[in-house]
Amino acid sequence: MFIDDVERVLISEEEIDKRCKEIGAQISKDYSGKTPVVLGLLKGSIPFMAELIKHLSIDCEIEFMAVSSYSGTESNGDVKIVKDLDRSIIGEDVIIVEDIVDTGKTLEKVKELLYSKGANSVTVASLLDKPDRRIIDIEAEYVGFVIPNEFVVGFGLDFNQKYRNLPFVGVLKEECYK
Ligand code: IMP
Repeated sequence: MFIDDVERVLISEEEIDKRCKEIGAQISKDYSGKTPVVLGLLKGSIPFMAELIKHLSIDCEIEFMAVSSYSGTESNGDVKIVKDLDRSIIGEDVIIVEDIVDTGKTLEKVKELLYSKGANSVTVASLLDKPDRRIIDIEAEYVGFVIPNEFVVGFGLDFNQKYRNLPFVGVLKEECYK
């Protein structure tokens, strides 16, 4: 069973639930009186996005974009927009929802694109942050958990498209990706 590939749980389902509530409350406060466009980056943001928007007590719209750069456990650094927005975001306040900020290349590219399309403001909510791997000087405004430099899966994060459906964030056994 795929669950047997997990060496250990890094962040439990309960911890994620609790943190999503806290971030949802903070965003609701910060965006009070506004209607932000909450923009999930497919596919890794899906579980976090679903959990987070339940805790927004303000009006919001949701959209998705797909961006790719990873193969296996390594980013090839070449960020491609696989599915672009199909609506105008001129003058909108956008909150990008991401699974993890790693090198920062994805966010740099997406933020640049959104501003070039006329967004009024762009902030980032990321479930995880791996600061040790950062190449681009970029930070998410809302971070669920800061993690060490380890390859993690679950709650949206994949290894070769698998393990996204784990309800927690965990570390894989080395033999599964080596
Ligand atoms: P960045 O552009 O290097 O910041 O990478 C962002 C993307 O890399 C994320 O959206 C993930 O899809 C992927 N990624 C980075 N670290 C991990 C990891 O530990 N597990 C799974 N995917 C990861």
